[in-house]
Amino acid sequence: MVDLQTIVDEIAAEMAQATERGAVASYIPDLARIDPAHFGIAVIGHDGVSYAAGDADTAFSIQSVSKVFSLTMTLGAVGDALWRRVGREPSGSAFNSIVQLETEQGIPRNPFINAGAIVMCDILLGRYEPREAIAQFLRFVRALAGDDGIVIDHKVAGGEQETGFRNVALANYMRAFGNIQHAVDKVLGIYFHQCALAMNCRQLALAGRFLMNGGRNPATCRSVVSPQRARRILSLMMTCGHYDGSGEFAFRVGLPGKSGVGGGILAIVPGIASIAVWSPGLNERGNSQLGTLALERLVQRTGWSVF
Ligand code: DON
Repeated sequence: MVDLQTIVDEIAAEMAQATERGAVASYIPDLARIDPAHFGIAVIGHDGVSYAAGDADTAFSIQSVSKVFSLTMTLGAVGDALWRRVGREPSGSAFNSIVQLETEQGIPRNPFINAGAIVMCDILLGRYEPREAIAQFLRFVRALAGDDGIVIDHKVAGGEQETGFRNVALANYMRAFGNIQHAVDKVLGIYFHQCALAMNCRQLALAGRFLMNGGRNPATCRSVVSPQRARRILSLMMTCGHYDGSGEFAFRVGLPGKSGVGGGILAIVPGIASIAVWSPGLNERGNSQLGTLALERLVQRTGWSVF
């Protein structure tokens, strides 16, 4: 049997040759400048052994991958009350779409589209001051990864604060329905900082370990969420983690995964591995082009699809 390090090395070499790399996100000023040649992969096995290749140690903007951690934190804060304000269905629409909110009373379809993540920030604001909410979020992710070196890139957050007009529209629209209860600039301040978390593939895969391990961080043996909640978060990653590309991702990769416009994807093989890939070029749905291809090849060679 071929060992995992050989597999990730081969995949990184294949990705270095790829010519169709997608396009970097241009609507966030700092992301527009990232070199699309990057590719990184890190796999952490259930036994804690890690396998990495390419730019696995280069930090990138995790963007919407952060929504996995904010969902976990928000469920920890308010439990199932979250589902009164956010749905659990795939949207089939772009991550920043506003259209469904009109006919669905300002209730976002799921926690992973921008509108859903913004509602979660509003919920956290009911418990914490804005700075405290951001600090708690950072502390939470650092604890999950076991790495206090993880930081927020304030320049990325500032850039989005100046240009994130769609998110301002989403928040205001939901406020009109009563589903945003705090000042929009404060809610979005949390959201933009959460998205601007800078992590590398190794750190991201480490932060995802609790999801491969039934809700318990295997390094600390501490429970982060119950096994049932871990299963539910994974189910949402499978059905909604890639927005209107979620069906295609399930078809090609067959793992619960969450993407971000920084080009990162966190994918979980329950009971087996936590995987992070990064390549900044995106496909037409805003998901990493080579990140998806790399996961597809990893799953083909390991048989790790959940199906
Ligand atoms: O709000 C935004 O548009 C970005 N901060 C995050 C979007 C994102 O990562 C969507 N992912 N594919």
